[in-house]
Amino acid sequence: MKRNIITTGDGSKTIQIQDWEEQYHSVHGAVNEAYHVFIDKGLEYHTNKAIRILEIGFGSGLNALITLIESGKNGRVVDYTGIEAYPVSIEEVLQLEYIETLNAEAYRKQFFEMHKCAWGIKTKLTSHFTFLKQKKDFQEISDTSLYDLIYFDAFGARVQPELWTEIVFDKMYKALSANGVLVTYAAKGSVRRAMQSVGFVVERLPGPPGKREMLRALKV
Ligand SMILES: C[S@@+](CC[C@H](N)C(=O)[O-])C[C@H]1O[C@@H](n2cnc3c(N)ncnc32)[C@H](O)[C@@H]1O
Repeated sequence: MKRNIITTGDGSKTIQIQDWEEQYHSVHGAVNEAYHVFIDKGLEYHTNKAIRILEIGFGSGLNALITLIESGKNGRVVDYTGIEAYPVSIEEVLQLEYIETLNAEAYRKQFFEMHKCAWGIKTKLTSHFTFLKQKKDFQEISDTSLYDLIYFDAFGARVQPELWTEIVFDKMYKALSANGVLVTYAAKGSVRRAMQSVGFVVERLPGPPGKREMLRALKV
């Protein structure tokens, strides 16, 4: 499917899938959304100093990059796994200009290493950040108690309803350790009910700019 680079409401860029009229991030602000949903409501909320993160949809690597930047500021030790079936190209990553937008020159080498490193091999990017990407379909995830925090960043239920089901959230629930947390930008009632039906306790939180609410699901 054809992908374009577009500029969002906060001036940062994202990828748009033309045929689906769907974006990798919010059109109201890619960086603002990523920080609000995944850092403020996810990483900052979880209390583990050493934390294992699973990202559902590595995509452009924006969430991984801001996690690398933020964990470096406060001494968190991160073990990051990104799942992706349809990787973006290095040309697209360059056009997104995330290093420039985030003023993150100190992390340029590590960010491109995320994109260029081999699938399935864990890489130590800094003394506090290890990174693994797996090229597979989300439906193939069968891990048990392996992660503390999940960034659930799939395309919306409008275009991929099969990813917002009890079957997938059951996999997420099982993949989390006790006291695990899942955050997502989505807020639909059907999504919340699917999460609850597999055992999550779900909170509705204020959403990023342009969105009233988002969800945080807890494995208690
Ligand atoms: C909303 S985008 C993720 C954005 C990403 N978190 C970022 O920061 O750029 C959703 C991602 O899921 C991937 N994807 C879609 N369906 C998938 C599937 N069934 N299995 C694995 N990856 C999938 C897409 O290729 C895309 O990169």
